[in-house]
Amino acid sequence: MLIRSLALFVITVLNIAPLAAKENILAFSFGKGVLSLSAHELLIRPDAQTITIPADVSYRRAMTYRAVPLIGLIGDVGKLGFHTIEARAKDGFVSQIPVSLVMQGASGGSVAWIAIEEPKAPWPNLPGKQASAGPFYLVWQNPERSAVGNEQWPYALAALTGVEDPVSRWGQLGIDPALPGDAKERVGQASFIKNCIPCHRLNGAGESDTGPDLGRPMNVTTYMTSAGIHALIRDPKSVRTWPGQQMMGFGADKIPDAEIDALIAFLAYTAKR
Ligand code: HEC
Repeated sequence: MLIRSLALFVITVLNIAPLAAKENILAFSFGKGVLSLSAHELLIRPDAQTITIPADVSYRRAMTYRAVPLIGLIGDVGKLGFHTIEARAKDGFVSQIPVSLVMQGASGGSVAWIAIEEPKAPWPNLPGKQASAGPFYLVWQNPERSAVGNEQWPYALAALTGVEDPVSRWGQLGIDPALPGDAKERVGQASFIKNCIPCHRLNGAGESDTGPDLGRPMNVTTYMTSAGIHALIRDPKSVRTWPGQQMMGFGADKIPDAEIDALIAFLAYTAKR
């Protein structure tokens, strides 16, 4: 009997142990090893605040969060020489956010925050999803001030890593220096890194496999017309529709017509290189 209850005890403890260990962790790697912070450790930081985001991009309504300023968390990365913060989400979305964009928050630009879902006050599910934006979510105050794009609001964040700028990291994205400074391919390159690379690779460049590689095996500009790609970027459902469709359209306020043309010119340019 004693042995049986002992066995039961051991089994019960083993079952509970993984639950108790399941604390939400956000990993920071900025050159000094990995710093793993739990939701609790972030929430008790002295710079944690309650903030309101009037037009939250992912919830599509006003939201209030407990949050920590991203500038405070990454410290003086300028000194460490990182160009980009790679923000990796649990669902495979990987945004490449320029450090300079985050730093603009200190001089009147948009301010980036890491919002933290408090276990005792869980956030609602995202519209059309079975999960919230938690446990960690990068949100922006006054996103219009620095023209922050919708793909720069990664939710379900797992890790933030200091990396090289995408163009030096992935030569496939490069543009011949002989091309004029105002060539539209350059505008398209910047737009691709801001809006598309969080989900798509291009000839292997990028970190996400959420959507297909737009360069391999065949470059998208070789089998879709410019008008078709343009329509798809604005509203994928205007081109194809099926229940499992994931890509969202980009309104003219996020990518104006001329910028879509530049994006397509860039995609076509990478096919020729
Ligand atoms: C949030 C993730 C996400 C973002 C951001 C995104 N896409 Fe997509 N895209 C997808 C997924 C996933 C598919 C596959 C179809 C689907 O499920 O919607 C796709 C499909 C496509 C296709 C069709 C490819 C084919 O051969 O059928 C094109 C073209 C495309 N995306 C271009 C873009 C461009 C250009 C951008 C940036 C302006 C972009 N996408 C941004 C996720 C994304």
